[in-house]
Amino acid sequence: INYTAIVLAAGQGKRMHAGQNKQFLMINDLPLIIHTLTVFVQDPWCNEIVLVTNKQENAQMEEILHQHQLSDRMTLVNGGAERQDSVYEGLQAVKRTNQPVFIHDGARPFVKREHLHQLAEVVTERRAGLLAVPVTDTIKQKQKEQLITLDRHSLWAAQTPQGFHYPLILKAHEEAKSQNYYGTDDASLVERLGEAVNVVEGSYDNMKLTTPEDLVKAKSYAAHKGKVVKD
Ligand code: CTP
Ligand code: MG
Repeated sequence: INYTAIVLAAGQGKRMHAGQNKQFLMINDLPLIIHTLTVFVQDPWCNEIVLVTNKQENAQMEEILHQHQLSDRMTLVNGGAERQDSVYEGLQAVKRTNQPVFIHDGARPFVKREHLHQLAEVVTERRAGLLAVPVTDTIKQKQKEQLITLDRHSLWAAQTPQGFHYPLILKAHEEAKSQNYYGTDDASLVERLGEAVNVVEGSYDNMKLTTPEDLVKAKSYAAHKGKVVKD
């Protein structure tokens, strides 16, 4: 199954407090965004990559893509103010609209190929899917001044990629845009159309790098992965 990946790198990484977009931070030997892109470049099922970047960082991005011989494997487009706007721009640039499109955070470098393939299968059969993991924390809901315990077994943490038939996700984004609705992820925009989004159980390794602590974890994971796992 062939699929398209839209990889989002047009944020600012404010919560990382690094003085630059976190996408360019080194995880051991490589910048974060290069780790992420390499997963897709090396997956034989992925035959189109759209990379969404900040306009002001285009030169810097092109430079590191060139350094790692990735330039001719992807299309670059400029992102927007919010993540959802960046996804919208990415969708406009997709050429292979008759195959699944995956939307993935550039800040998640450790997604596993086996889960990409499971997602491609789910999207082919059922139009929409996402990677998610069961929550490990006990999650409580605030009601007035009390915290009420939720049933942990029904709670899942959404990850990316989230994958869709192209016309479905385009419609979901067009609707959201016309209503000036901003959702917290792409799957939620599809749910608003009354469409089911199927879950693929992913891995806790598929972390999103948000804070400086996450960067420390990612460096340790990357070092460990290199030694122990070979694929
Ligand atoms: N993203 C994007 N365009 C935006 C905002 C976010 O492409 N306008 C991307 C980020 O680059 C990131 C992914 O969406 O890969 C997930 O967003 P998040 O982790 O929130 O990253 P940032 O927005 O960069 O970080 P922060 O919210 O801390 O500023
Ligand atoms: Mg953000």
